[in-house]
Amino acid sequence: MDNTARLDLRAKLASQAPVVLPSLLLCDFGRLNEEIQTLEQAGVNALHLDVMDGHFVPNLTYGPTIVEAARKATRLPLDCHLMISDPARYVRDFRNSGADSMTIHVEAVPHPAAVLDQIRESGALAGLAINPGTPLETMIECLDHCDLILVMSVQPGFGGQKFQTAALEKLRRLRELVPPGVLLQVDGGVNATTIQSCAQAGAQLFVVGSAIFGQPNYAESVHRLEQLARV
Ligand code: DX5
Ligand code: ZN
Repeated sequence: MDNTARLDLRAKLASQAPVVLPSLLLCDFGRLNEEIQTLEQAGVNALHLDVMDGHFVPNLTYGPTIVEAARKATRLPLDCHLMISDPARYVRDFRNSGADSMTIHVEAVPHPAAVLDQIRESGALAGLAINPGTPLETMIECLDHCDLILVMSVQPGFGGQKFQTAALEKLRRLRELVPPGVLLQVDGGVNATTIQSCAQAGAQLFVVGSAIFGQPNYAESVHRLEQLARV
């Protein structure tokens, strides 16, 4: 994906908003292909993959191999959330595995702008995430290097946690600070009760784990959430 393709994907996701991105963290990995097919049939526009290294966050998940398996199963955009301490080292690997978007954490690296540029140069969308306890000021100087900003509404590491409302104020402030073309995403505890306030605060992309995978019918859950997010 060259620069034009990166900007095209960004514009496409913006035009599709509200976009619900199922977080594969909670899917059945023994049936990854079927899970992805079911989500495709439910009409989702992109998938969210949570990469954890047991160092930046206390949990461990997977690396490029699973991203590659997902890539083989679908043509949907793959949005990789890198909860890892040294993302710069793995940008090339994740890109080669099929990542269309990579989000690093502002808390993880001393100079996020350089890593964001590296991601963009790889052809993927560059995303920057911020944890609930981190002040917005830490990311201000990087905003021009971002295609996407991810506001965490839980402490990253595990699915199924309670939504922290402090994320809403961050979303509102970011919506005023960044140009409309920069995508605002929220992740953690997003469900039928919390999604509307996120949308009202300016979020366009909504990462959802348990409110999809904990439910019997993925399509119904996705459609209901997208409807609630239409504000
Ligand atoms: C948390 C992950 C999320 C999580 C979302 O560290 O980044 O993507 O899996 O799951 P729910 O929706 O259950 O909070
Ligand atoms: Zn995530």
